[in-house]
Amino acid sequence: MEPSDRPTGHAEALAAYHAEHVLGCTKCPLAEGRTTVVAGSGNPDARVMFVGEAPGYHEDRQGVPFVGQAGRLLDELLERIGLARDDVFIANVLKCRPPGNRNPTAREIEACEPHLFRQVAIIQPMLVCSLGNFATRLLSGRPDSISRVHGCELPLEIRGVPTLLYPLFHPAAALYTPAMRATLETDMDRIPELIGTAGELRERGAAPAVPSVDAPRPPEPTVPAAPPPDTSEQLGLF
Ligand code: URA
Repeated sequence: MEPSDRPTGHAEALAAYHAEHVLGCTKCPLAEGRTTVVAGSGNPDARVMFVGEAPGYHEDRQGVPFVGQAGRLLDELLERIGLARDDVFIANVLKCRPPGNRNPTAREIEACEPHLFRQVAIIQPMLVCSLGNFATRLLSGRPDSISRVHGCELPLEIRGVPTLLYPLFHPAAALYTPAMRATLETDMDRIPELIGTAGELRERGAAPAVPSVDAPRPPEPTVPAAPPPDTSEQLGLF
C-alpha cells in the first residue's frame, strides 16, 4: 500500500499522545501488574486499523501487539491480501495485559477506551477491522455476537471519523478451530475491496448509518467454556 497520498502529521500526533497519556497510564489497576503498556504499532497514516482485545503474555513483555501465536496468524492473513504490518495500524481495546489473559472487565474498558478512540481520531483509518467480541461491541456500540456479525461491514462514525467497521473473528479463536480459520480467511479476503468502498464513502462524505461510540455500553459478553490450558495466549474471544 502507498501511504504517500495520505495526510501527514499523524505520526507526531500519535507519538505525542502515547507519550503523554498512554505509556504511563494508571487509570485502572492493570497498571500495577503490567510489564509494559502496549499502545499499538504500525503505520500512523494507515488506511486500515486492526483492533484486538488486550495484550497477552508476549505482548506485555515486548510492548508490541500481536506478537504471539495469534499475531503470527494475523501476519499470515495480512500477507494473503498483500499487506504487511507496516501498512496497517494494530491496537487493542486494552493497552495493558489482564492477569492470566482473563477477559477485560467493563471498568477496564471504560478506563482504557479513550486511548483507542483517540488513536482512531488521529489515524483516521478508512477501514477499522475489529477482532472478536470486545473490539466489535465497543466500536459498534451494539451487543451483537461476533459469530453473527463477522464479515458484515458497517459504515459508522467513530469520534467524528467516518469509517467502515469490519468485524472479524479474533485470530486466537481461529487458531484452535479450523472452520473459524477458514471463515476468517474468507472475511479477510474482502479487505482490499472494502478499502475501495470505504474510500468512496469518505470521498462522498457519506453520512454514517449508525452513530456508534457515544452509544451506551453493551453488557459484558458471557465467558465461553474453559479454554485449553495454555495461558500464554488469549482465548476468551469466541
Ligand atoms: N490478542 C489480542 O487481542 N491482542 C494482542 O495484542 C495479542 C493477542
